[in-house]
Amino acid sequence: MTDTTLPGLEPAQSRRLLEVARAARRVTVLTGAGMSAESGVPTFRVAQSGLWERFDPTMLATPEAWEADREFVWAWYAWRVGLVRGVEPNAGHLALARWAEVPWPDGGRRQLRIVTQNVDDLHERAGSQVLAHLHGSLTAFRCEACESPYDGAIDVPAEPVERLPPPRCASCGEAVRPGVVWFGEMLPEGAFDVAADAVFDSDLVLVVGTSGLVYPAAGLPDLARGHGVAVVELNPERTEVSERVDIAWRQTAAGGLPALVAALET
Ligand code: OAD
Repeated sequence: MTDTTLPGLEPAQSRRLLEVARAARRVTVLTGAGMSAESGVPTFRVAQSGLWERFDPTMLATPEAWEADREFVWAWYAWRVGLVRGVEPNAGHLALARWAEVPWPDGGRRQLRIVTQNVDDLHERAGSQVLAHLHGSLTAFRCEACESPYDGAIDVPAEPVERLPPPRCASCGEAVRPGVVWFGEMLPEGAFDVAADAVFDSDLVLVVGTSGLVYPAAGLPDLARGHGVAVVELNPERTEVSERVDIAWRQTAAGGLPALVAALET
């Protein structure tokens, strides 16, 4: 077992994290937009590059916005579908998929559960199974009226366009909507309970790339700590979560996770 110092951590903190991670049989990784940033998917709230610096979120991510102007909202989501299709999982996504395969020291299987707020499919494309997509999935389109899933083709603009008509439901003819959770909507049925159960049943919770501002997802690290579970944050910036974690690791997802997993593999 080598004594690697993880990039961005003091040697003592690095040793502590590696000790917890090596001993952890059940790990839950909570991911947010920062997880996909190094793949080229802009985060929501970071100055300059955040998607919502250019668009007012209240115009796009609420049921009211959809009611008011479906073509405007659909155009934005259709553009994001194209954006996500055009990028690849980054080294952080790939490292998480590898971590699940690193045997626990006694030779038994490690359980690595991923709970994400992201609506992209980059974890899955990296080879991971996602336990819960708390905010839905970009491509899980459904009818706004009868809720039938829609798996037909959609027009994906190469550049953001201002208006695009949503497809119509084959069953009832009403508009098809994105499969994401908008502000004020319920999370997908059961998703939060599954996530909370995973957190309670963990030896380590790693929080990667989220600003910790959107509830109920943002409450999961506190639930973990309340249960005595070690919580580590991986984020290049200080966040709402930072004060209440055991280790705040100032590093990016693609910079930190491969180093961590490589250390666990040795
Ligand atoms: P935010 O955009 O609020 O926060 C992204 C976080 O990622 C910030 O804390 C950044 O510091 C961090 N970050 C940036 N680059 C990173 C990198 N390379 N590696 C690791 N971290 C990095 O995104 P979320 O917290 O995911 O919900 O936002 C939560 C929810 O707000 C989203 O799921 C979305 C939005 O409203 C819905 O659409 C319902």
